[in-house]
Amino acid sequence: MIDWHSHILPQIDDGSQSISESVALLTELKSQGVNTVVATPHFYANEETVQTFLNRRQKAFDELSPSLSDGLPKVLLGAEVCYYSGISRLENLECLKIENSNLLLLEMPFSRWTEYTIRELLELSASGRFTIVLAHIDRYISMQDRDIWDRLYENGILMQANASFFTKFFKKKKALYFLQNNRIHFIGSDSHNMTTRPPKLNLAYDYVSQKLGSDILTEINGFGKALLG
Ligand SMILES: [Fe+2]
Repeated sequence: MIDWHSHILPQIDDGSQSISESVALLTELKSQGVNTVVATPHFYANEETVQTFLNRRQKAFDELSPSLSDGLPKVLLGAEVCYYSGISRLENLECLKIENSNLLLLEMPFSRWTEYTIRELLELSASGRFTIVLAHIDRYISMQDRDIWDRLYENGILMQANASFFTKFFKKKKALYFLQNNRIHFIGSDSHNMTTRPPKLNLAYDYVSQKLGSDILTEINGFGKALLG
């Protein structure tokens, strides 16, 4: 399986704070059936340039690399790019795509999205420069109109959900509904550390398998894998 959203690179954001913590996260992810982890550190355009971010990300990855043994999941470099009005004009935005793919993971505002915001997403998608993936849609589902997900998907925008969507008592039925109706295309741990925000993909996989059978997990894994070069 692929973990599409994680903060496992050491000392680059509010995720892992050391190489040993990164290795512990990867070891745990491996035990949960993950063989590829997309590292998605936060990128905020109001704090740094794309190039500065890429340099910091490379440095973090280079520091971790000697500890990446054969048994650990493969790490792909990506970013959780914080959306802002006008992001489509950001220089080098393409460089923030997930390694070997056309996928750009966007973290959206934690509020009701305006029509302007939605149109900018649709234009970005229509430009063909990226395949837009909205990060952890479960965190803003309740703030949007119900029909928004159909509108976005019909315009080529894909959705990532966190594992916790499938484990929270009041949310997990909705998570299954979204997954069954092709409105969740990627599942991520969004893990930050081994204490307060550890990986719990196994709980999500178990719940989905138990309720829908494991074929749907195989399907979304295959779908995602095909989008990686
Ligand atoms: Fe995240």
